[in-house]
Amino acid sequence: MEEREDLIFLHVFLFLIALISYILIRRNQKNAAKLPPGSLGWPYIGETLQLYSQDPNVFFASKQKRYGEIFKTHILGCPSIMLASPEAARFVLVTQAHLFKPTYPKSKENLIGPLALFFHQGDYHTRLRKLVQGSFSLDNLRRLVPDIETMVVSALELWTDGNVINTFYEMKKLSFEVGILAIFGHLDASQKEELKQNYRILDKGYNSFPTKLPGTPFKKAFLARKRLQEILSEIISERKEKRTAEKNLLGCLLNSKDDNGGILSEDQIADNIIGVLFAAQDTTASAMTWILKYLHDHPKVLENVKAEQNVIHQFNVDGHLKLTWAQTRNMPITYKVILESLRMASIISFTFREAVTDVEYKGYRIPKGWKVMPLFRNIHHNPEFFSNPQQFDPSRFEVAPKPNTFMPFGSGVHACPGYELAKLEMLIMVHHLVPRYRWEVVGSESGIQYGPFPVPIHGLPARFEKESTQEKGDECGGCCDT
Ligand code: HEM
Repeated sequence: MEEREDLIFLHVFLFLIALISYILIRRNQKNAAKLPPGSLGWPYIGETLQLYSQDPNVFFASKQKRYGEIFKTHILGCPSIMLASPEAARFVLVTQAHLFKPTYPKSKENLIGPLALFFHQGDYHTRLRKLVQGSFSLDNLRRLVPDIETMVVSALELWTDGNVINTFYEMKKLSFEVGILAIFGHLDASQKEELKQNYRILDKGYNSFPTKLPGTPFKKAFLARKRLQEILSEIISERKEKRTAEKNLLGCLLNSKDDNGGILSEDQIADNIIGVLFAAQDTTASAMTWILKYLHDHPKVLENVKAEQNVIHQFNVDGHLKLTWAQTRNMPITYKVILESLRMASIISFTFREAVTDVEYKGYRIPKGWKVMPLFRNIHHNPEFFSNPQQFDPSRFEVAPKPNTFMPFGSGVHACPGYELAKLEMLIMVHHLVPRYRWEVVGSESGIQYGPFPVPIHGLPARFEKESTQEKGDECGGCCDT
């Protein structure tokens, strides 16, 4: 009898435990924030095929239309949350940046160099960022104006041999030269050539399939990266011997000491030099190519820019005086063309972060380990922030954009430290190109190509021609002849 009572008691006890557990689980489920709307697609491949079988911008825009400003997807093997509102981008990149770490495929990290600042967070990142930012300060950039001007002038001279040129490819050469100047100051011609050759191989293999099989673009890139390390090592030794306190990036990295007097290792210096070169080249080249495309397609805007630049050319006695830093800071029409080109093209369409812990945003759960992608392009093309967003209209920048709606150079702790250099290069390029040259885009095909940055189709093939002095006279109504 006693045994039966014990059994009943045990059953009641187990039933109560199960009931309480069930109630607690339900309550937790109710309290736990839900995942954002969206689709995770097929197992493992997710929605990667949808993303790459169409223009990625169409993919993101159609998702935003369907699900709103925050939605989930699954691409490149990772569950991801996309954010298309200025507030959400600010949350991830600025106010709660410590909850989201930068994330890149390991193969790419190894090609650039794992110690490059953009792979890091925290103290190491802060230290490196200060050095990079310091080397691109306005005071340092001011000194680069004459050299950048010389580089632009000689690049343009080479474009007018009557052949069709690939504008993007030529712009890449120019932005590489400017990058080398900002990093090393003046560099021995043979060292520069060696850097150029090996960097070109690295660049070619960067987006190829990561395999160590001999002969593949990735393996070649890997070997080129090793050679780059050797060349950098040689340059570093030479500069150390000279003991000069140069203000360029290499000088800043070599002279840096932390609170305990610790200096940066050769690997830290090399990875950051390759990293900056990488961050500077295609981005700036793509922006400059788009500027040419938009100016070509908008003759009225081109006329206005020409008029602005002609005044400066005349002041400088048609090139007999050098362009000054102050003049580069006073080109309002050209500057607005640059801003509008950056908005329209949105070269960095989005960026990647990874949640380091479970995060809640506006009632939605962002699980630890998921990728988070602020979508700059969607924000730049949202009619709520930029009316008629598909129209190229530099005059819209007569009024400052609403806060956090214009982020061509990112935002927060990882925002671009090279943006002043990029803008300076674009201004000098337009200053010399527009009043003196005419360019005709070859081929009627229009469209965008991703490599991975958006570039006009086929790199904007174009034929460049020097404007004749006679036509210049015609332009000003022949007043120069009288
Ligand atoms: C038009 C040209 C450029 C554009 C559109 C651009 C855009 C950007 C953007 C959007 C980011 C932030 C990425 C993120 O948050 O994940 C970034 C970071 C960076 N950019 Fe640029 N960039 C340009 C030119 C340059 C140049 C000329 C340099 C150097 C000379 C440079 C060096 C860097 C570096 C080192 C970072 C990483 C910063 C960090 O992680 O703290 N960029 N850039």
